[in-house]
Amino acid sequence: MQQRVVPLEESKDPGAVSRTNQFKALPLRLVQLLVLFVASCATFAVISIYAIRHFGINSVVDTVRSGFQPCYEEPNGLEQWIRPPSNLIHTMNDEQLLWRASFVPRIRKYPFKRVPKIAFMFLTKGPMPLAPLWEKFLKGHEGLYSIYVHSLPSFEPRFPTSSVFHGRHIPSQVSEWGRMSMCDAERRLLANALLDISNEWFILLSESCIPLYNFSIIYHYIAKSKYSFTGAFDDPGPYGRGRYNENMAPEVNITQWRKGSQWFQVNRKLATNIVQDTKFYPKFEKFCRPACYVDEHYFPTMLTIEAGNLLANRSITWVDWSRGGAHPATFGGSDIREEFFARVFGGQHCTYNNNNSTMCYLFARKFAPSALEPLLHISTKVLGY
Ligand SMILES: *[C@@H]1O[C@H](CO)[C@@H](O)[C@H](O)[C@H]1NC(C)=O
Ligand SMILES: *[C@@H]1O[C@H](CO)[C@@H](O)[C@H](O)[C@H]1NC(C)=O
Ligand SMILES: *[C@@H]1O[C@H](CO)[C@@H](O)[C@H](O)[C@H]1NC(C)=O
Ligand SMILES: *[C@@H]1O[C@H](CO)[C@@H](O)[C@H](O)[C@H]1NC(C)=O
Ligand SMILES: *[C@@H]1O[C@H](CO)[C@@H](O)[C@H](O)[C@H]1NC(C)=O
Repeated sequence: MQQRVVPLEESKDPGAVSRTNQFKALPLRLVQLLVLFVASCATFAVISIYAIRHFGINSVVDTVRSGFQPCYEEPNGLEQWIRPPSNLIHTMNDEQLLWRASFVPRIRKYPFKRVPKIAFMFLTKGPMPLAPLWEKFLKGHEGLYSIYVHSLPSFEPRFPTSSVFHGRHIPSQVSEWGRMSMCDAERRLLANALLDISNEWFILLSESCIPLYNFSIIYHYIAKSKYSFTGAFDDPGPYGRGRYNENMAPEVNITQWRKGSQWFQVNRKLATNIVQDTKFYPKFEKFCRPACYVDEHYFPTMLTIEAGNLLANRSITWVDWSRGGAHPATFGGSDIREEFFARVFGGQHCTYNNNNSTMCYLFARKFAPSALEPLLHISTKVLGY
């Protein structure tokens, strides 16, 4: 602080007034130096022009660059802001990553042709046994999707370069693997996916999920929806409101408390809401402890409070709870028949853009590795890809 004040004080010094007079009486020596400087500038300019004519601009720039390193900078174009990162590996920690991912342009219209993409975000332990099915589903739709995979840090991905999953693993961090771990991983996936400005819709999936329609149908269903498909409902029972803790007020009060499936789809605006949240996160971290499960309440509640009018309040991932118990049913090879899919597609009722609809689920889980071969056989006929 001191140092910045001193020069200002100096200019108030009466001595400063006399400096203009000193200028008139410039000593001869100074004039000589000035002439010398102007002359060397002119010489440099002449040499440069000569060199540019003979050797082209680049070699001259290189010469100048090697001589005058600090003065030269790469030209900055729009490209550097809109090109997706070529490599998903970075060295940012979660705090840095979330901050970076929360950048939002304030002008709505993009000054370039932006083709909105779907970001498929896979939250996995490690292997992706159904990868070949996803590859079949995605084939021919390059440019309309991006893939992100979050696996346990100990897992070493080995996908062939021809695979859509090759090089798509994001850095996961073992040190921050705590109670909020599931939501931290989901926020990490969202934040990495937000770094690509063309990603407009973000879908959380697991390694046991499959698509139920072909790519074009799924893309249009999501693109034309007025709402994001995140499950959020007010459950008055012990597994809903019963898990609310009054210490969460005033940020969250009981009428705002929501429950919903972890497998969400959000648009870019809601994804930003999630990564930028510093208001609700500490409350859930402190006061949503078992039997309160953060991954069932945090996003549904937070998004309902911040942007409830943008939510469809339902999930687009089909899952079978009919067998009862704490975990939904897993389907293996012997389950994959046409009758099974008739059951999945039949009896669906929901609203889509405020209309009644019988097309409610775009994805389904959970499928065991043994389901892969039968799925690959039946997918063209039953799933349309
Ligand atoms: C996707 O399925 C729909 C309906 O079955 C069909 O009309 C469309 O041609 C299919 N698209 C592709 C790319 O296969
Ligand atoms: C909860 O929030 C709603 C909406 O902001 C408000 O109307 C209601 O009075 C609040 N309830 C309590 C118990 O604070
Ligand atoms: C979802 O629920 C919120 C309130 O929780 C409501 O404002 C919104 O309209 C609902 N969405 C739809 C599509 O009905
Ligand atoms: C949707 O279906 C319900 C019950 O079947 C009916 O009451 C409602 O009017 C329908 N809404 C629209 C928009 O068709
Ligand atoms: C939805 O409802 C509106 C008005 O009732 C109708 O014009 C439109 O065709 C419906 N859309 C679908 C997909 O059914």
